[in-house]
Parts: sequence; C-alpha cells; structure tokens
Amino acid sequence: MIHIKELFQHAEQYYDQTIQVCGWIRSIRDSKNFGFIVINDGTFFQPLQIVYDNTLDNLEQIRHLNVGASLIISGRFIATPGAKQPFELHAGRITIEGTSSPDYPLQKKRHSLEYLRTIPHLRPRTNTFQAVFRIRSLAAYAIHKFFQENDFVYVHTPLITANDCEGAGEMFHVTTFDLDHVPENDQGRPDYSQDFFGKETNLTVSGQLNGETYAMAFQNIYTFGPTFRAENSNTARHAAEFWMIEPEMAFADLKDDMTVAENMLKYIIQYVLDHAPEEMTFLNQYIDKELLNRLHHVVNSDFAHVTYTEAIELLKKHQEQFTYPVEWGCDLQTEHERYLTEQIFQRPVFVTDYPKEIKAFYMKLNPDGKTVAAMDCLVPGIGEIIGGSQREENLELLIQRMEETGMNTENYDFYLDLRKYGSTRHAGFGLGFERCVMYLTGISNIRDVIPFPRTTGNCEY
Ligand code: 4AD
Ligand code: MG
Repeated sequence: MIHIKELFQHAEQYYDQTIQVCGWIRSIRDSKNFGFIVINDGTFFQPLQIVYDNTLDNLEQIRHLNVGASLIISGRFIATPGAKQPFELHAGRITIEGTSSPDYPLQKKRHSLEYLRTIPHLRPRTNTFQAVFRIRSLAAYAIHKFFQENDFVYVHTPLITANDCEGAGEMFHVTTFDLDHVPENDQGRPDYSQDFFGKETNLTVSGQLNGETYAMAFQNIYTFGPTFRAENSNTARHAAEFWMIEPEMAFADLKDDMTVAENMLKYIIQYVLDHAPEEMTFLNQYIDKELLNRLHHVVNSDFAHVTYTEAIELLKKHQEQFTYPVEWGCDLQTEHERYLTEQIFQRPVFVTDYPKEIKAFYMKLNPDGKTVAAMDCLVPGIGEIIGGSQREENLELLIQRMEETGMNTENYDFYLDLRKYGSTRHAGFGLGFERCVMYLTGISNIRDVIPFPRTTGNCEY
C-alpha cells in the first residue's frame, strides 16, 4: 500500500507503475462508461483522483457508492501534464472495504465550524480539521524538539494532586465518595481522611510546583501534559481540559525566561511553516487571510516589552474603547490584552511586573514591594498565550506571601524545602497549547483546536 503523501513527494518514481492505495471517498462523479473518485487517505492534505471505467467487474457497486466509503484501489499511476491535478490513478480493481450511508453528514460542501462542532467524531475528515489537527500534532513535536535540543529534561508531573498551584480555587475535585454517603467530620464537613488518598485531592491546574522540584535537580526541565480548570467562563479561549507546556529553569531570571519563551514560539511557528505548507496555505485562504503574513512577521521581528504600569498608562488613553475600565491594580481583560498587542504594538508583547495582588503566591517580589517579576506574553487575535514569572527563592519572603494569601503552608513543605536546600533564582512559564494552536492556525475558537473539547456544559464522547 502506498501513501498518498509518498505519491505527492516522489511521483516520478511511480509513473506507469501498478500501485495500490487506500482511502475514503471525498467525492464521486459517475458518467455512463467511466467515473472519477477523489480519495483522501489521511497521510497528505491533497487528495488523489481515481479514474475508473466499465472494465471494472464490480462497476455497478462502485458507481453507487456514497461519499465517506472506504476503498482499496490498485491500478496504473499516470502523469497528467497540463491537467488540474498532476497525476491520477487508473483503477484496475477497486475493493470496497466499507460502504457509507447516504445520510453521511459531510457532503462535498462547506459546513460551518459551529455545525462541525456537533459531530466531533466526524469533523477530522474535513479539510479544515485535517489542517488544524495535523498542525496540532506538528506543533507538539516541535515543542519537544525545541526543548530536547536545548537539553531540557521532560518531566511527567502528576494529574491528581493535593495542591492548588494558581491559588484560584478553580479545581475539579477527585473523590471516591458516593455522593449520597459522604462521611463527615466533627464540623459537618466531608471527612477526606476516609477517602482514597486520605486527603482532599483535585485534578492539577498546573504542573509548575512539581516541575520546580525537578528544575532544582536537572537545572532545565519542561512538562507537557493536560491541566484542568473549573473556570466557569464560557469564552472562545477557555477550556476545562487543556494542555500546557511548562519549562522551569534554575539559575535563570525573568529576562532569561522571556528569551526562552520568544525563541520557543518562533521555533514552533517556523517548524509548522516548514512542515505543513499545504495546510498553512489552506488556512490562510479559508480561515484567516492575514495568517501567513502575521506569522512570517513574528519570526522575523523582536517581541515588544512593556511593564504593566506603562501598559495601564497606554490603555487609559483609550478608555472609551473598553467595556471594563482600566486602572492600576486591575487585572487585564482580554479586550485590554488584545488592544495592546493588536493596536498599540502590532506584534507579540511581553507585559511584565504586575501588581502582586493579581498574581500567584510563588512570584518573586520586586524591590518596589508592590509588583512581582511576572510576565505574560500577549499575541494578536488571542491575548494571553503565555504566563510566567521568576519565582520567589527566599524562604522567609515566600512563607510571608503564602500567609498573606491565606494558604496552608503545611501542604507545601516539599515546595519550601526547595528554598531550604540549595535555593537559587529560577524562572519558568506556561504556554497554553490550545491557544498556541489557535495562533498557528488562525482558528478563533478553542473548541475547534481540541479533538474532543471540554468546556462549561459540554463533555461529549
Ligand atoms: O497564566 P497561567 O494560569 O499560568 C500558570 O498556570 C503557571 N503555573 C505557568 C508557569 O509559570 N509554569 O496559565 C498559563 C497559560 C495561559 O497563558 C494560557 O495560555 C493557558 O495556560 N490557559 C488556558 N488555556 C485554555 N483554557 C484555560 N482555561 C486556560 N487557562 C490558562
Ligand atoms: Mg495567566
């Protein structure tokens, strides 16, 4: 069996030879004594045209096939100079592996992304989702390649945990309790000491705290795995289950952190441009006409840098543009983030040094006592794609910060140990993988870059 990708890449090696291919029917057009079938085998973005005629012994069955049927075809591979497609396969024999019923939802026409969301098990068969999910796969590979080439160790952090890294309380609880029979303690609260792990546990919101422990042994590490947030926000960029890449670097500060983040993003973009030219051209044509221009521009220019305080001053001048008012101390909303990156800087921008009140407990306090060494990377079309920081390496300051934010330091002994035994400056960040795929593809809804998205009120299949 020869892959269609192989035919497109080394066509001349197969001309006038008898070959066998397989695939699913994208379209079928039958005339009296001959017909055309376009098939896609999933290995390449472009389909292959099959030509058949009345010498087929199962002609009657073939001409009544529907879109979606699966076939194995053997025949002669012919160059067709001057035609729309460079070659075609003249079928000698067509074996029907599986027919497709006439109510197959993916007929040869454009379907809306909203409609395709209702059939997540079938949508990978469309051009748009062939492009998106090929790019998702390539981007994941590029990320591993980038970190492995730079000697980062890939660490698998746990999915079930007892900590809440971001302190936002947006956790999915993990319990074996039967909801009708929850054992209670003296205060009438659930008694988790009787639960599977003997304590209250949840799905991880971030692998960072565990990641830091390995950075303190390997210097440079990264995680790449699923994370979960019970954020009750029904937006185009929030999912309840998403993947995150979290590098952590010992002996590194915020500047080093941003350098790695910028190099990584450029590397991923370049890798996808180089390895999925057909898919990228398609997305540029049908999803976002500025996609290729924008991405080429990003790999060839430096990201902008602005402090949170400066950003607030800039945004205040355009207060009338926003639904949410801007003032020092407020968390930046998506509309503010997008205005900064799309209107003011017109390229990716790092916003640094946020007020400590709106950031997590582990971030390093700046000398001003008010802000922390944080950075968010904002990109056009999306807003925040990366959140990171230099970490507080000083034991006393960290404990003070945990107490200020009302955390129970007992659960975090392991984390405090890192500051007791060989503490050093260190920094890291989290790249939201789905937001990265949105950025690479121009797709504007996170539900369309995850095979089976989990969002508020939606857990299909
Ligand atoms: O900014 P966040 O919350 O940072 C952290 O979790 C840190 N522990 C990372 C670190 O320093 N190691 O999340 C990081 C990124 C965001 O910038 C965003 O791209 C993505 O994760 N993200 C989400 N993506 C999809 N759906 C959600 N609900 C997301 N929440 C965060
Ligand atoms: Mg963030």
